Amino acid sequence: MEALYPDLIDTHAHVSGPEFDGDRQAVIERARGAGTGFIEVGFDVESSIRSIALAASGALAAAIGIHPHNALDYRDNLREAWRDIAGLISRQCPVKAPEPPVVAIGEIGLDYFRDLSPRPLQAECFEMGLELAKDNNLPVIIHQRDAEDDTIDILRNHRIGRPVIFHCFGGDRLYARKCLDLGGYLGVGGTVTYPKNSELRDLLKYIPLDRMLLETDAPYLSPQSRRGRRNEPAYMRETLAVVAAALGKEEGAVGRIARDNALMAFGL
Ligand code: NI
Repeated sequence: MEALYPDLIDTHAHVSGPEFDGDRQAVIERARGAGTGFIEVGFDVESSIRSIALAASGALAAAIGIHPHNALDYRDNLREAWRDIAGLISRQCPVKAPEPPVVAIGEIGLDYFRDLSPRPLQAECFEMGLELAKDNNLPVIIHQRDAEDDTIDILRNHRIGRPVIFHCFGGDRLYARKCLDLGGYLGVGGTVTYPKNSELRDLLKYIPLDRMLLETDAPYLSPQSRRGRRNEPAYMRETLAVVAAALGKEEGAVGRIARDNALMAFGL
């Protein structure tokens, strides 16, 4: 089984988006060259369809869902939109058939930092995603900003019984503890490389090593050396280097542990 998977797994990327229309194949090749596979993550109905398509042509697997920002697009037909997403779950991937490519519901969650969708609508959307995950026995990928308490409350009220992946984790030790207690895996991305983010580097020591994942959130959140420019899965090695240094451990070992955690979290 081991040889089937790359050395590293980027657990959160958006390579199917328009930012990569000009050179998607080259980006996928660079990821391969860097020994990095990635999970393609949807954020609305269209990107979820693209996510599944990319699982057939470059991504390891797909996640599908409706992001709190995008809940607004479906304010009048949220239930129908989720029904469309549900319809994608059993869609088979031509290359990997008979394995369906969908390994998680997400990204879903709450974002009170940008507040692009009204908060009650965000909550409704989040809860529908959790119910879909529960019905299909799938893990979830959580997006959360400035909404820690409500996110934890909703997750406690909708226990899904599968791993909860907190993408681009940020927060203090108490919040990390709450996330871990919910069966959480914490995704560490490019923000850990930012010189001012010593808080996250310090927190790494308190995250159990078997609950840590690595990610890019490409095209966003490039690591420090490329900050402000487009991110891609091949660049995750810079994040790994910073994480390994912060932990005082060897890069290869940390990368393999995070890779194995990803296989476990997503049931790959
Ligand atoms: Ni994302």
